[in-house]
Amino acid sequence: MKSKHLIGLETTPKDDISEFIDTGFLFREILERPIKRVPSLTGKNIVNLFFENSTRTKISFELAEKRLSADITNFSSSSSSVKKGESLKDTIQNIHAMKIDCVVMRHPVPGSAIQLTNYVDSVIVNAGDGTHEHPTQALLDMMSLKEHFGNIKGLKIGIVGDILHSRVALSNIFGLVKLGAKVKVCGPPHLIQKGIEELNVGVEYNVDNLIEWADAINILRIQRERMGVGIIPSVREYRRFFGITTERMKNHKKEIVVMHPGPINRGVEIDSSIADSNQAIILNQVLNGVAVRMSVLYLLLGNNDLK
Ligand code: CP
Repeated sequence: MKSKHLIGLETTPKDDISEFIDTGFLFREILERPIKRVPSLTGKNIVNLFFENSTRTKISFELAEKRLSADITNFSSSSSSVKKGESLKDTIQNIHAMKIDCVVMRHPVPGSAIQLTNYVDSVIVNAGDGTHEHPTQALLDMMSLKEHFGNIKGLKIGIVGDILHSRVALSNIFGLVKLGAKVKVCGPPHLIQKGIEELNVGVEYNVDNLIEWADAINILRIQRERMGVGIIPSVREYRRFFGITTERMKNHKKEIVVMHPGPINRGVEIDSSIADSNQAIILNQVLNGVAVRMSVLYLLLGNNDLK
């Protein structure tokens, strides 16, 4: 493994991405055991720094750390000295002085994860930094695709929604393209960055064409906080043109795989009948999230054999 940290999949070598995913399957097997715990990270100290809300990622990292027998500390910015004006640098250097092996951080500012590597010499794992990257989300998405299809190379993957503001979209693009998948993005033209084709992805503005082309689609959450500020004119209009609705899916003969990173806005970007159908692998993505985060922490921090 060449990587010392996991900041983003843009900078992670292809072989390391494959190893994170493949080792994830070994941990997935451990998660099926009656006692879901291995001693791999005994004696390692991990701090989870969450400066932004999270359900899946926070719980998933905590479970992954506990199942690897690490010692963990949870930090929430809302109850910390950040509220008194303490900077990120001072916060992390004080935490680091307490002898920490790894920091898992979610932060609203793009680039904050790489910035941490300048302040401390612990392993840094990015749990989502603003609109930049969410690498463990993309790893769990790719693990779920590999589990379903057997391989990622040659798969046709559509990503639908607000591509411009999505760290999930960017990390998926970097990872999928490195592993040989074909990727197309789809959404309102003003929510797709100009020049995105340079990342070796196609652009499709018609979601029905995308569904006909794809083996699987990853549907992004429409961020309600962006509505009413001129970015998304109305929920109804978005749903009509880009929503993965019951009616739309009935018109397509093929049954593609449906993915969503969560949290879901039911009735906006996806209807309940699709999110809860057999073609959706959304909850499997969540389970694989624990396994792939165990893999990331194990490969970056541990030297023990899997038992
Ligand atoms: N997918 C994801 O990052 O969800 P949370 O914001 O709940 O962690």
